[in-house]
Amino acid sequence: MEPIHTLFATQPDEPSQAVLPDGLRDRYDGNLCFPPAPEERPYCIANFVSTLDGVVSFNLPGQSEGAQISGANEEDRFIMGLLRASVDAVMVGSGTLRAAGPQASWLPEAVYPAAKDLYRKYRTEVLRKPEYPLVVIVSGTGELDLAGAVFHTSRTRVLILTTEQGRQRLSRSGSGVLASVEVKSLSAGEQGISPSVILTLLRQQEGVELLLHEAGPTLFGEFLAAGFMDELFLTLAPQIAGRVAAHPRPGLVAKVEYSPATAPWCKLLSTKKAADHLFLRYQIGDQRA
Ligand SMILES: NC(=O)c1ccc[n+]([C@@H]2O[C@H](COP(=O)([O-])OP(=O)(O)OC[C@H]3O[C@@H](n4cnc5c(N)ncnc54)[C@H](OP(=O)(O)O)[C@@H]3O)[C@@H](O)[C@H]2O)c1
Repeated sequence: MEPIHTLFATQPDEPSQAVLPDGLRDRYDGNLCFPPAPEERPYCIANFVSTLDGVVSFNLPGQSEGAQISGANEEDRFIMGLLRASVDAVMVGSGTLRAAGPQASWLPEAVYPAAKDLYRKYRTEVLRKPEYPLVVIVSGTGELDLAGAVFHTSRTRVLILTTEQGRQRLSRSGSGVLASVEVKSLSAGEQGISPSVILTLLRQQEGVELLLHEAGPTLFGEFLAAGFMDELFLTLAPQIAGRVAAHPRPGLVAKVEYSPATAPWCKLLSTKKAADHLFLRYQIGDQRA
C-alpha cells in the first residue's frame, strides 16, 4: 500500500481523542472521529469514489462497480474498510447490490483483507461494537437475488427494508429460511420508502448511531434531498470516464436536481492523498448560510 498523507485537516489530532489503534492510525495518517448521533436518527456518512469528471459508474455490463472507478485502488479500499469498521450499519440499495455481484458482503475486510485483525480490534476493543456492522439493503420491489453471499454468512446480520409487496416477493423467494436475514416491510409512497422512516427504524429499533451509506446515486440522492446526509467521504480517482447522452453515466446524485439557490454546499474537513488519488472528507450542509 502507498503511504496515505494528510494534506489538510480542520481539527488537529488530539491525543485525548485517539480512537484508532496505532496500525490503523499510521496507515490513515491521523485519527478518525465522528460527532454523536442526533436523538431521532443515526449520524449519516457516505462513501463514494468518482472520476475527475464526476462519474461514479461506467454503467457497462460487468464493469459498473466502484472498483472500476477507483482502479481497485488499495488505499481507497483500506479507507472503505476503515469506514465499515467504524459504523453500526452499512446501507445499500438493490442497484448497488446487483452491480457488486454475487460475492459482495460489505464486511470491512472484504475490501481490504490485510487489515482484518486491525479492523476487528478497533471495533471490538476500542469502539465496543459487535464484530461486524449490520448490513441494510433497501428495495421497493423485493427483486433481490437471495443466492448472493451476503445472505449466507453467519457473520453478518442482514436487514432488508422493503414494501409489503416486496416482502411477499422475498418470502416467495425463500427469505424465511435464511437464518441471518430479516425482512421488514415499511409503508411507501410514490417515491418509495421515505428516508425518515428508514432512519427512525434504524435508530429506534436497531440502535444504529452511525450509518455508512454505500448506496448508489438513487438512494443517496433521496437521503441528501431529505437533508439527512451529514458527511461525504469522496475519493477522487485520477481518470476521466466521459459520457454521452445515449448512454448515461451517473454522478453522485440521481433523480434530484438543485438550482444555484438551493444546492447544498459542503465544508472540507480533511484532504489526504496517496500517489495520484485524493481522499476528501466533507461536512454536508448549507455552509454559505
Ligand atoms: N462509485 C461509487 O462509489 C459507487 C457507490 C455506490 C454505488 N455505485 C454504483 O451505482 C450504481 C447503482 O446505482 P443505483 O442508484 O441504482 O443504486 P442504489 O441507490 O444503491 O439502488 C437503487 C435501488 O434501491 C431501491 N430504492 C432506492 N430508493 C428507494 C426507496 N425510497 N424505497 C425503496 N427502495 C428504494 C430501489 O430498488 P428496487 O428497484 O429493488 O425497488 C432502487 O432501484 C452501480 O453501478 C454501483 O456500482 C458506485
